[in-house]
Amino acid sequence: MLIEHLSCRLRERDAQSLRRRRRIAESACSAHQRVSAEGCQGREMLAFCSNDYLGLANHPALIDALAEGARRYGAGSGASHLISGHSRAHAALEEDLAAFLAPCMPNAKAMFFCTGYMANLALLGALGDASATIFADKLNHASLIDGALLAKAPMQRFAHRNLQVLASQLERCATPIKLIVTDAVFSMDGDLADLPELLALAERFDAWLIVDDAHGFGVLGRRGRGTLSHFALSSERFIYMGTMGKAAGVGGAFVLAHSTVVEWLIQTARTYIYTTATPPAIAHALRSSLRLLGGDEGDRRRAELMALIGLLRRGLQALIAAHPSLEWKIADCATAIQPLIVGDNDAALALSAALESQGLWVPAIRPPTVPRGSARLRITLSAAHTRADVQRLMEGLELAARMFR
Ligand SMILES: Cc1ncc(COP(=O)(O)O)c(C=O)c1O
Repeated sequence: MLIEHLSCRLRERDAQSLRRRRRIAESACSAHQRVSAEGCQGREMLAFCSNDYLGLANHPALIDALAEGARRYGAGSGASHLISGHSRAHAALEEDLAAFLAPCMPNAKAMFFCTGYMANLALLGALGDASATIFADKLNHASLIDGALLAKAPMQRFAHRNLQVLASQLERCATPIKLIVTDAVFSMDGDLADLPELLALAERFDAWLIVDDAHGFGVLGRRGRGTLSHFALSSERFIYMGTMGKAAGVGGAFVLAHSTVVEWLIQTARTYIYTTATPPAIAHALRSSLRLLGGDEGDRRRAELMALIGLLRRGLQALIAAHPSLEWKIADCATAIQPLIVGDNDAALALSAALESQGLWVPAIRPPTVPRGSARLRITLSAAHTRADVQRLMEGLELAARMFR
């Protein structure tokens, strides 16, 4: 019965063009990757889909640091953090992170998690008790939504970036604790939350601001300190989450917050307590990553990335202007995430397939990851790309546009 039920549901997904298929990356994450699909030979592709924004995932210094970390601390942590898995490498990374972000959150403490998904479940589950209300932007990442669903606190969602609605929700709220939750850079749209206004609302209504900076940390702000730095904000009201598998090029995530919040998470966060600690070698490699992204090399890579973003946006604007009948849209954002919104699921899949046939890897993103009717190509750029790579993507899109018009 179960198998029939699931087969039927899978067929429904097929009918709506919603079935997802995995590709197999045969080589390291980089702009040019060898990729295969089930049953197909691998081939070289030019990829515009990773979140490796600074091109650090395959950096020799990080590969060396990972190997050195493994030699020093072994392959695995052996236990959860509260038993015996919390190594010197984890502790040192947390200190480095707190020092790096001190200009934005002076007295905060850092806590390292296995993944950003787990950090968000931890945050909302541990802070969202019955005395709290969670206020969440409708386009927040799935991990924040899932965290809120696990919490005892009720969740109120506000339309994307609609702070008027949020203000009236906060005004009516009777619980003593109010948690405003937002992506800093929205993961499928690439636009920024209005953090200065959100902080003003948090101050006005005595709320806390949980900021998920998965796509801003390492990319935006002075020395890559992220979206708080981009807006030159500093406040004790922030509860900041950054991931280390994107711009930092390795994996894992951290929460940076008031020391009492961090202590509460250590005591109660289920995704921290009931899981084996990340291998210490990863934490060791992340210390090198932090030095790279916070140094001159990071600045150089960020400048190159920004130049590529400008080039791509100009190309996309010209493409859309040349093919108005397609009704493609781009978002108003200057980040490394540049969605090309085509609307229909089939159209997004066909466009992605047309690019794939030209050796370009740009996956189609469909509901429920994005709202119905807004299927898109999520084009992501990396400092590992060259201008010629972006040019090749534009030529591929132009060819596809002519096919579809
Ligand atoms: C906005 C946002 N938050 C959290 C996460 C989860 O982070 P991680 O991949 O480290 O689990 C992602 C990742 O994909 C994300 O885009």
